[in-house]
Amino acid sequence: MTNDSIPNLTAFDDESLDKAFAELRDQAKAVADAVDSSEALEAFRLSWLGRKQGRLNEVSSRWLKAAPPEAKKALGQRFNEFKQFLLTELLLELDQRSKSADAALKAQALDITLPGTRRLLGAEHPITRTMSEIVSVFAALGYSVGVGPEVETDYYNFESMNFPPGHPARDTQDTLVIASQERKPLRDRLLLRTHTSPVQMRTMELEPPPVRIVIPGKVHRNDAADATHSPIFHQVEGLCVDTHITFSHLKGTLDHAMKALFGSAVKTRFFPSFFPFTEPSADVQISCIFCGGKGCRKCKQSGWIELLGCGMVDPAVFAFAREKQPAYDPKKISGFAFGMGVERIAMMKYGISEIGQFYAGDMRFLSLFV
Ligand code: PHE
Repeated sequence: MTNDSIPNLTAFDDESLDKAFAELRDQAKAVADAVDSSEALEAFRLSWLGRKQGRLNEVSSRWLKAAPPEAKKALGQRFNEFKQFLLTELLLELDQRSKSADAALKAQALDITLPGTRRLLGAEHPITRTMSEIVSVFAALGYSVGVGPEVETDYYNFESMNFPPGHPARDTQDTLVIASQERKPLRDRLLLRTHTSPVQMRTMELEPPPVRIVIPGKVHRNDAADATHSPIFHQVEGLCVDTHITFSHLKGTLDHAMKALFGSAVKTRFFPSFFPFTEPSADVQISCIFCGGKGCRKCKQSGWIELLGCGMVDPAVFAFAREKQPAYDPKKISGFAFGMGVERIAMMKYGISEIGQFYAGDMRFLSLFV
């Protein structure tokens, strides 16, 4: 329907006017009867009452303007009645009707037999959970918690940890190096840290002894991914420096920590090892938690499983710390450090055989930890 369908009025006597307005009413009613939704109602409202294009406007400009002066009053009256009719009766009634039509539609759309929307509860990732568990074992012993940057300088990651430039020990911890840094001195060049040990040095530079700190964090290595290796993994570092700290303290601390993590039946043993930043160094093994030490496939029949690295802080490391904190004098203080892989510990605790499960984001795996 367009505004063109408003005819011109030629006769202005009462009868002709009544007839003309009755026709308008019929037209409006016909369209109104077809209205079945709130959208259609709005379209109807616009087509009749719209400010610019509305048909009522058109009636006013065609009929009222063309009317001879003596007919204007009669025409105006009927015009107002018609407008009133449109506004009150029609719109009001239609509004009611479209509301109930919408409600009927909505009622149809609600199928109470469908399952509801279930909101899953979030849970800590098993790595995060294991990391906090390790940290709280040491927090209970009076250790504080520290963090450091994942993008680290060559100095903190290697040099100050007693891996001199060009030393073959660096090859055991190959990593990604930030590009285009050739103009910088080696010690300032940035890389993705290969262990959390650089935070040992950052801590000592900021605080004089005594220090007892654990450092959880993410580390990176150029390792091929397999069932037990991932190029990105997590560690918890530990550092304790004070007067008269001995290897016995180290043994007692880690033996306690392993029992706290794996149960009091677990035994520990210390095997000679090498790290540039500790002397002596050791690998800590725990009695196999799967067979109780009898020997099984998991422990390759040995009854023992290697779990972490540790040792007494090398005096060469204290020498680097002394550049900022003279109190790290190896004649007066001593200390131990340790570093453990969080994934490895989580895999043992939860009996997981594929490290990749931690990173795959598979809900079937993750929901085991809710
Ligand atoms: N930083 C060593 C590693 O990542 C672990 C370690 C930490 C060993 C502290 C000894 C002392 O392999």
